[in-house]
Amino acid sequence: MCGIIGILSNTLVAERLIDGLSRLEYRGYDSAGVATIYENTITKRRAEGKLQSLKDLLQQKPLPGTVGIGHTRWATHGSPTHQNAHPHATDRVAVVHNGIIENYQLLKDGLIKDGVIFKSETDTEVVVHLIDQALQAGKSPDIAVKETLSKLHGAFALAIIFKEHSDMLMGARRGSPLVLGICDDELFLGSDAWALAPWTQKICYLEEGDVVVMKRDNGFAYTIFNEAWQPINRLVKHLNLATGAASKGGYSHFMLKEIFEQSQTLSDTFLSLIDEETHTSRINLPIDFSGEHVRIRLIACGSSYYASLTAKYWFEKYAQVLCEVDLASEFRYRDPVLSKHDICVFVSQSGETSDTLAALNLAKSKGCITLAIVNVPESSMTRAADHHILTLAGPEIGVASTKAFSAQLAVLCALALHAAAQRKSMDTISTHLRELLHVPKLVAQVLQDVSLFDELGLRLSQTRDVLFIGRGTNYPIALEGALKLKEISYIHAEAYAAGELKHGPIALVDKLTPLIAIAPNDGWFEKTSSNIQEVATRGAPIIVLTDDPMFTVNCLEFRKILLPKSTPLSACFIYTAAVQCIAYYTALHKGTDVDQPRNLAKSVTVE
Ligand code: G6P
Repeated sequence: MCGIIGILSNTLVAERLIDGLSRLEYRGYDSAGVATIYENTITKRRAEGKLQSLKDLLQQKPLPGTVGIGHTRWATHGSPTHQNAHPHATDRVAVVHNGIIENYQLLKDGLIKDGVIFKSETDTEVVVHLIDQALQAGKSPDIAVKETLSKLHGAFALAIIFKEHSDMLMGARRGSPLVLGICDDELFLGSDAWALAPWTQKICYLEEGDVVVMKRDNGFAYTIFNEAWQPINRLVKHLNLATGAASKGGYSHFMLKEIFEQSQTLSDTFLSLIDEETHTSRINLPIDFSGEHVRIRLIACGSSYYASLTAKYWFEKYAQVLCEVDLASEFRYRDPVLSKHDICVFVSQSGETSDTLAALNLAKSKGCITLAIVNVPESSMTRAADHHILTLAGPEIGVASTKAFSAQLAVLCALALHAAAQRKSMDTISTHLRELLHVPKLVAQVLQDVSLFDELGLRLSQTRDVLFIGRGTNYPIALEGALKLKEISYIHAEAYAAGELKHGPIALVDKLTPLIAIAPNDGWFEKTSSNIQEVATRGAPIIVLTDDPMFTVNCLEFRKILLPKSTPLSACFIYTAAVQCIAYYTALHKGTDVDQPRNLAKSVTVE
């Protein structure tokens, strides 16, 4: 979602603002803009669409200035037009914003009554006019911002520059991430540390309610105020982030590269959790899973939710502990019954998803034990949760999650076995852990020859609807397969537990609706086979992903993709790679924007 960048320097900033925005592109956006102060004037450049349009504009109309702000916008209030693109500004002040000002309509009505004329449909513009009014009333910039913030409801991060104070940059954080980057001769703001990595790795993560006032006087200095407007010292961390631009490494898309990286990233994640020699858990958490009243609650959004649904099978089967799975957006508002025995596990690749973060804070406030499973080390969730485990998938650039998803499965599976060891609920734990260490090889085998996925993608690119089915842990993988397909190819896809087909979805079946069945030869194979047969009888094209070389179906159109022999534990990793490939090649043949699909954002920082 929206990305923010701000630079206060002695040298020109426009080019670096764009560079910083390009490092935030992965979040998803539909317009972009920058503003600087030059010769006592705030000047903006904004463009619809991709960053390239803004770069082209800046080539034609360069933007001088040594203080500036930049923004990639993921539209919430107002369509993704030039007029609604950030920064928004008056003559006196310019603002970029990530988040939603929930009471903007009320504030806007009041401002209109005062004679203010709005130029955009955004909620952000109220912030600009409120600060402007206070400046006009003779308030200093920091007081103008302080007073404005006190009127705002919602979640946001802001970066602000002032015409009369070209030696000043301000940032505010409430609910949306914002970091301060520190150098001797420059100061920065960014939605994440990665955006600032080429210029500084000295990072201060602003906390909820913080405001930072950055000044260029004789040198560069900053003051952070907490929610009560008290100056406060926040920890400055020295990070060690890659500074190069993310590279596709010869692949046509980041998503394909990330699919292919999975064998390695799974290996990295498993080896961080399992001792290779002894096949015992290396998870070292001060959490006791053995208590009689312990309940596991897995809470997440999107693909992370499907990883959690898969893990429910493992926690219940292996650790024999009650496990509930919730969508964070529902959990946070439905008054869940929580107790101090609940181990609430928050699963998120970004660690910033606004609903999951709010759910985490709710669980904390109820005294539950909180554990975050996150891919981004210095994210809001790793800092907010009592404990965290990192998925070691590395930076994921494609908006549709692939390697982060499989790494979540890896952590959750190892965690369920760790809980099983503490609960003494099974005696084959080390066999299972050893089996997990073989999973990366199996995933590599799936990806050895992707020509069948490519052919299938061509076929599916001509369809309008697709049905997925699976049983057991492969049911959530079917859900993930359908989600991937709709996210990047825009083809309507639904997934059902195979046993549920007869309870409604079978009415959708016709010869134009292919069925993709995840059907490893496991304990439910015969049942799933019958379900496939029922659909085939009704004329649907049948695509079966299986490890059974003999499996066949008598129907008009039948395709089989034979995958490596799986076990109930390894299957979900194998079939995940397969459904990812199906989605990728279908989108490729449709010609959609695979890495940045329309309307989607990687880091969903608004509700
Ligand atoms: C967005 C992304 C998905 C992701 C979901 C949850 O919708 O496009 O790929 O699964 O957010 O994000 P999280 O960072 O919490 O895993």
